[in-house]
Amino acid sequence: MLIKKTVFSAIQPTGNITIGNYIGALQQWNQIQKKYFCIYCIADLHSLTIYQKPNILNKNILDTLAIFLACDIDPNKNIIFIQSHVPQHTQLSWILNCFTYFGELKRMIQFKEKILFLKKNNNINIGLFNYPILMAADILLYQTNKVPVGKDQIQHIEIARKIAIRFNSIYGKNIFTIPEKIINPNKGSCIMSLLNPFKKMSKSDSNSNNIINLFDNNDMITKKINNAVTDSDIPPRIIYDKINKPGISNLLSILSNITNNSIKNLEREFKGKIYNDLKKSVIKNLCIFLHTFQKKYYKYRENKKLLNNIIVNGSNQAQKLAKITLNNINNLIGLYNK
Ligand code: TRP
Repeated sequence: MLIKKTVFSAIQPTGNITIGNYIGALQQWNQIQKKYFCIYCIADLHSLTIYQKPNILNKNILDTLAIFLACDIDPNKNIIFIQSHVPQHTQLSWILNCFTYFGELKRMIQFKEKILFLKKNNNINIGLFNYPILMAADILLYQTNKVPVGKDQIQHIEIARKIAIRFNSIYGKNIFTIPEKIINPNKGSCIMSLLNPFKKMSKSDSNSNNIINLFDNNDMITKKINNAVTDSDIPPRIIYDKINKPGISNLLSILSNITNNSIKNLEREFKGKIYNDLKKSVIKNLCIFLHTFQKKYYKYRENKKLLNNIIVNGSNQAQKLAKITLNNINNLIGLYNK
């Protein structure tokens, strides 16, 4: 029997999930589940590195789970669980702290960016600094082979690999599988901000006109896409060229991914047409797509019993695997096992 390789990925339950998150991550998670044994995690502990209002965090966790289900991520085929329900994550994270150097973490780009942003409020907590170590623990606990991530997370995967290689070599045993990243191979999978298509669409953007939220209604979609930046070349040409035509390329990317139509095909269909034709089609298809998504979402979100069942099953399954790795590590490093 061919044993499937293990995939691990996670998303923070910080709400405001966008069409960019869908196309860049969730849609890919859905495709990957056909080929790999997948472990998908709601990283609630990571989200605490930025202050979360308790009642909102609580709600966001269940919302995130219902979003997974509405994206057809199958809890019977994969393990879906909440990070804080599997205590081995924080336990391994402590051990890995002791195998990571201060200088390594200080150089992390995301840390440097986040503290620049937070400096004004004087709130630079150590969780933000240690963030990559908890992420390494997430990945290494499950002997993960592959980790699908966006470009902004590549450095985090590299440090997880470094820690694993270092640990293996100090103890002279291949106790950790060395994970590899998977970068989304779908063309146009990185969706950009609507008003500034040089910048990635971000769920934490303070201007909601930059993003399409998965819960936007038809009016909001219409307004936002109509206002989206296009280009000013004359005559207007609807072609994919990220450098010279970032606005049009972004609209093509969105349309291609939600309709499963290749960008090449779309360029052919829109030959000789004007930008407004493209926008109309993006609006129409986004409305259809999000309407279907939202209908599915609310069906799951209202079914508290189903959600709770998935959460309990997921954490049991995840713990079973996590315990094996953590026990092996504890024994290897000399912790006393009664
Ligand atoms: N840091 C990731 C993000 O914000 C979420 C995350 C937490 C993650 N643990 C992970 C992603 C492990 C991949 C693997 O996008």
